[in-house]
Amino acid sequence: MTYAGKVGDVKVHVAQHPLITHKVTILRDEKTPSSIFRELIGEIVTLLAYEATREVKTVPVTVKTPVAMAEGAVMAKPDAVVIPILRAGLGMLDGMVRLMPSVQVGFLGMVRDEHTLQAKTYANRLPQDLHNHECFVLDPMLATGGTLISAIHYLIDLGATDITMICILSSPEGVAALEKEFEGTSANLTLVTAALDEKLNEKGYIIPGLGDAGDRLYGVV
Ligand code: URA
Repeated sequence: MTYAGKVGDVKVHVAQHPLITHKVTILRDEKTPSSIFRELIGEIVTLLAYEATREVKTVPVTVKTPVAMAEGAVMAKPDAVVIPILRAGLGMLDGMVRLMPSVQVGFLGMVRDEHTLQAKTYANRLPQDLHNHECFVLDPMLATGGTLISAIHYLIDLGATDITMICILSSPEGVAALEKEFEGTSANLTLVTAALDEKLNEKGYIIPGLGDAGDRLYGVV
């Protein structure tokens, strides 16, 4: 994982690991079937989660081993909240909770208008007070940034101050949009992504990308 530095007030980490590159390459391949695609998404998220949780808060504890006392640390309360953005973010949930089984899970349903490319919220199920909760937002594709920007505003309005976004692929345009929107923010915002792609096309798809993540996960409905 490289630390690509602070882009504006958003910290950006781009994975640089051969295992992640290998899995992302298979994910991109249009011949990869949904069943394998879903498995790979889970595996990549678990690998990204390792980096994304590097600064998770812990409290010191002492435990008794069979032979001695040991000083250690466990994750602090209140529990972190993982928020998949429906529909495609749902495909990332298992990979995240595998690593952090004690988290709370909230849901945010957002859809992108294909003509205006603007994101609209159509459903939400979240704790109504996110003060002191570390939030992990799951969305496979950071394209224009519209969906994530709306989601982050939503969480900040509920009191969140510590938000990590986990995306499989990101576009330079999406990263720039996040930077512009949250310049000077007092929130602690971090993006962890498996790859930073080349650009967006005129339809808002990431190039080279992997196509429509929701369709590849769940088929066209
Ligand atoms: N959403 C997707 O699923 N794919 C893209 O390339 C861009 C947005």
